Amino acid sequence: MAGKEGFGINAQVLQEVAQEIAATHRLGLQIGIVIGGGNIIRGEKYQAQGMDRASSDYMGMLGTVINALALQNALEKEGIPTRVQTAIEMAEIAEPYIRRKAIRHFEKNRVVIFAAGTGNPFFTTDTAAALRAAEINADVIMKATKVDGVYNKDPMKYADAVKYDRISYMEVISLGLGVMDHTAITLCKENKLPIITFNLNTPGNVQKAAKGESVGTLVAN
Ligand code: GTP
Repeated sequence: MAGKEGFGINAQVLQEVAQEIAATHRLGLQIGIVIGGGNIIRGEKYQAQGMDRASSDYMGMLGTVINALALQNALEKEGIPTRVQTAIEMAEIAEPYIRRKAIRHFEKNRVVIFAAGTGNPFFTTDTAAALRAAEINADVIMKATKVDGVYNKDPMKYADAVKYDRISYMEVISLGLGVMDHTAITLCKENKLPIITFNLNTPGNVQKAAKGESVGTLVAN
């Protein structure tokens, strides 16, 4: 969301992301979104400076709420009805997370953005995504990132890095591949939730992944 600035919200990038999601929603899919907050605040940075993990994690969760409100606005500009639900109650700003209400929103053709992670420190946005996906009985988690998929080593550093088209949860864990943290991967494995990870910066990728076309890497059993 930060674009070239590397911080904050770039209006053009935001709208492009919203357009990708809107086009995918128009295919007739029910979409829940879990958004991170690294463009607003990076907890690790403050932890490295000596702040305790709980405080910096809460700060990060508030960052995800900022992004959720921005994305809701951008999606509604594309004509997509959207609801934000927060895992930390802040009723003046958004609905609290209520599983059954979220499911009702999907039935009414609304996109639901789940903000504030799981509401607990020590859990990542990826874990929040895995948890919400399990709760709403999602068919798949689509992890949109800055890389094309899962590689055997860092493709930014090694020219001979090889991309996997498909990989198992156990391989991701045992090889220590950075698709998602272990808590998130384990939750996906236990709940048989496939993960498709792909590059969000390639236009059309979200729709391709949603249509089941080969894109990025599939993590499954
Ligand atoms: P249905 O009743 O299923 O049609 O859902 P709805 O979301 O349209 O109805 P509701 O009356 O619950 O919400 C109307 C608007 O108020 C929506 O934009 C909701 O996101 C928002 N809203 C609902 N509950 C809360 C809340 O606790 N806090 C905030 N800030 N907004 C809320």
